[in-house]
Amino acid sequence: MNYFRDRIDNERLDNFFQNALIGIHFLNPERFFIYINEYELSLLGYNHDELIGKKRFSDIVIPEQKKRFEAHWNHILNKKTVQNMEYTLVCKSGQTIDILLNAAGIFNNKGELINTRGIIINISQRKNLERMIQRKNIQLDIANKKLHEKNRLKSEFISKAAHELRTPLTSIIGFAQTLLMDDIELSPQEHSEFLKMILSEGKRLNTLISDMMDLSKIELGIISLQYERFDPVSIIKEAVNIFQETNHFPVNFKTDENLPSVYADKNRLKQVIMNVLNNAYLYGKNGSDILITLKSSSDSIVVGIHDKGPGISTSDLPHLFDKFYRGRTTDKTRGSGLGLPISKEIIETHGGKLWIQSTPGKGTSVFFSIPVQNHGETIN
Ligand SMILES: Nc1ncnc2c1ncn2[C@@H]1O[C@H](COP(=O)(O)OP(=O)(O)OP(=O)(O)O)[C@@H](O)[C@H]1O
Ligand SMILES: [Mg+2]
Repeated sequence: MNYFRDRIDNERLDNFFQNALIGIHFLNPERFFIYINEYELSLLGYNHDELIGKKRFSDIVIPEQKKRFEAHWNHILNKKTVQNMEYTLVCKSGQTIDILLNAAGIFNNKGELINTRGIIINISQRKNLERMIQRKNIQLDIANKKLHEKNRLKSEFISKAAHELRTPLTSIIGFAQTLLMDDIELSPQEHSEFLKMILSEGKRLNTLISDMMDLSKIELGIISLQYERFDPVSIIKEAVNIFQETNHFPVNFKTDENLPSVYADKNRLKQVIMNVLNNAYLYGKNGSDILITLKSSSDSIVVGIHDKGPGISTSDLPHLFDKFYRGRTTDKTRGSGLGLPISKEIIETHGGKLWIQSTPGKGTSVFFSIPVQNHGETIN
């Protein structure tokens, strides 16, 4: 009678173990699997014969957690239970799953370990979610830091801008006040000089404000470029003509044969050439003529503007694209230190690059590239 009852109970128990929605296994004192239910087998992707008596539980724990497993095993030998311990197991496919392990030892009357029983719960989904949240948190953290940095740069820009604007404004106010003073007798020539200064400082203020607005529009991405296809040589020659009308300084050309046309904003490109040419003229004119080179590379054309002036010191070089930065070569020239940052932004908005090579005492070369194919232009 007892025999049948035990048999029925065993069958029931086995049925219950096999169909449970948690993993159940037993390990012998050598840590080999001696029993494993269907659920855990399907979780690990092994079949019964591949595990029973052939693999130890520690074999399927990821290498980083093997030491931890040893510690938990000793815990069990000391008749303590292992509760809700997170493990990552390697399945037969090589993929990993995250589980929670609950385990305890079963001992005989003499206190010797007969086997251990372990219950595992698949927490991969939860862990994957946790990892995703962690990744998102890191991304958020990076975005936050970038935002802080942008904020800091904005504040720095505003304070430098205010300083730059104040200089011509102070001159205008000073000259105007002098002109209005009753107790100062000014000759007609002085009078006209002061008015000229006011005009020139006013113009400078105007340039400064439009440069700042330009830069902020490009940075905010609200600048709309008027893309069209054109021959780069013609546009460079146009810019040089405008430059020479005021500066009467020789400019030489060296261009590759059969340069491809480019798809870009003509006026913005002219603006870049003018900025760089003016720099070459202002800061390099002790040297010799200016040379413009045009080369065709695989998917872009590269424009180089070279002078043989004093060059740029290595301490200035890393800062040339900082807003309002003016180097040692400036002497008494007037400028706001926005020409190069604006030029770089314009070129990068076109998908190109702008870079500078300079050797103190030998001269400076400013290069920029313009992609031949650009911004979704359709080729027929
Ligand atoms: N060809 C060059 N040779 C030597 N120094 C140069 C050259 N081009 C630029 N620089 C240095 O780089 C600095 C930054 O140039 P950038 O064009 O940005 O500003 P800027 O010319 O001072 O003012 P602006 O806003 O009027 O252009 C200059 O002040 C100058 O010191
Ligand atoms: Mg300049």
